[in-house]
Amino acid sequence: MQQRIAVILAAGEGKRMKSSLPKVLHRLCGRTLLGHVLGAVDPLCAEKIVVVGHGADSVRKEFGDSVRYAHQERQLGTGHAVMQAAPLLPPSGLVFVLCGDTPLLTVDVLRSLQVVHEERGAAATVLTSRVPEATGYGRIVRDTAGGLSRIIEDRDATGEERKIDEINTGVYLFEAAALHDALPSLRNDNSQEEYYLTDVLQILLQKGLAVAACVNDWRLALGINDRAQLAEAETLLRARINTQLMLSGVTMVDPETTYVDAGVHVGRETVLLPGTLLLGHTTVGEGCAIGPHTEIRDSVLGSSVVVRHSVITGSVLDDDVSVGPFAHLRPETRLHTGVKVGDFVEIKKSDIGRGSKIPHLSYVGDAEVGCDVNLGAGTIVVNYDGRQKHVTRIGDRTFIGCNSNLVAPLSIGEGAFVAAGSTVTRDVPAEALALGRVRQINKEKMAARFLQREEEG
Ligand code: UD1
Ligand code: CA
Repeated sequence: MQQRIAVILAAGEGKRMKSSLPKVLHRLCGRTLLGHVLGAVDPLCAEKIVVVGHGADSVRKEFGDSVRYAHQERQLGTGHAVMQAAPLLPPSGLVFVLCGDTPLLTVDVLRSLQVVHEERGAAATVLTSRVPEATGYGRIVRDTAGGLSRIIEDRDATGEERKIDEINTGVYLFEAAALHDALPSLRNDNSQEEYYLTDVLQILLQKGLAVAACVNDWRLALGINDRAQLAEAETLLRARINTQLMLSGVTMVDPETTYVDAGVHVGRETVLLPGTLLLGHTTVGEGCAIGPHTEIRDSVLGSSVVVRHSVITGSVLDDDVSVGPFAHLRPETRLHTGVKVGDFVEIKKSDIGRGSKIPHLSYVGDAEVGCDVNLGAGTIVVNYDGRQKHVTRIGDRTFIGCNSNLVAPLSIGEGAFVAAGSTVTRDVPAEALALGRVRQINKEKMAARFLQREEEG
């Protein structure tokens, strides 16, 4: 098999994004534009060279050494960009050239490009598409036999040529040897004084080397230039992700309002209700019911988990857990099997043991809670003394009465009972009853006299 390598052009500024962030680092369904492109070529090309220029440091920081880089000091055109990568390319083999701003490309499209390339025995093959609106793109001019005759840039095109609706997507497959041969002959004698990569095709045509064009669905090669196109691409990609999930056995009551990032896993028989967002590195098991109106980010959920109207970040929920409505789980929360977290509960960096319940109006932070514990309504773990966070340990089968303050650092032994309304500042031994509140006094027959005085006063 021939060696395959990918060159991704990502040195341009992306002026129309009106952004301080390099264009290719803008995100679509949770992943950068460049990340999507790299993901599409990855199954075909282990080795990828990214041409960086504008915002090069940020791009290098984002992708680290997962790719190689070629630096383009000044952006003198797409052909010039490929010239910067040329020293890193092998003398022979196949070179895919792609742009960093076409996030909807799929590996299947690239495979079909290679099929056409090999069938035609071409030195270069360009991916084209027929688009509803061709303005701004290079147009594909074909000869009478239907072969590619040349690519003309929008600004260099005549009125007649501008009517052509077949465009250059900016995706190419080259024989490395032919590319190496042609690059040094590129000239910048055009309206932009740029070295056009498209002229390589022209040069190969003149040399009598076969050049082919492979037509594809325009949606797959949509290039992002501004934030309106970014939103358009996001809608298309979201629909693609949702369709794949539904075909794999996930129910979506309303796909239009269900937002699942690229790379999120959802198990079969899970139901996603309207207004659900599954973001970042998230995995949801089988038979869960998520939503409505729920945001889950960077979290792992087991099977048969129910989450309603809640926000969950950086947490792990085991099987049969139930959360919400209106709960907030913050990073490093772990809910073991069968835990129930109810309404208006916030949990941060805490481990809640099997079968424990925190049904209403509680804050739990920096706590290790055992199994089958019941935290009554209004339980507050007082984990912060204004300077430092402290840990609270609550043993198995303890019962914390309503409206208790558990002042950390604190340890409550197994099977202990904290009376409602207590402020607990000292450790509680196992099986003990802790009462930490003012003793109640009852004044006989005082109620009526008390009320009378109020009226007179
Ligand atoms: C290019 C094509 C055009 C095609 C279109 C598809 C040429 C001459 N024209 O035009 O036929 O229809 O893409 O979107 O190739 N880049 C660099 N360095 C540079 C210039 C560009 O890295 O010096 C990168 C950009 O970051 C971008 C890609 O190359 O990712 C395309 O550049 P862009 O300026 O958008 O090219 P177009 O003028 O749109
Ligand atoms: Ca472009």
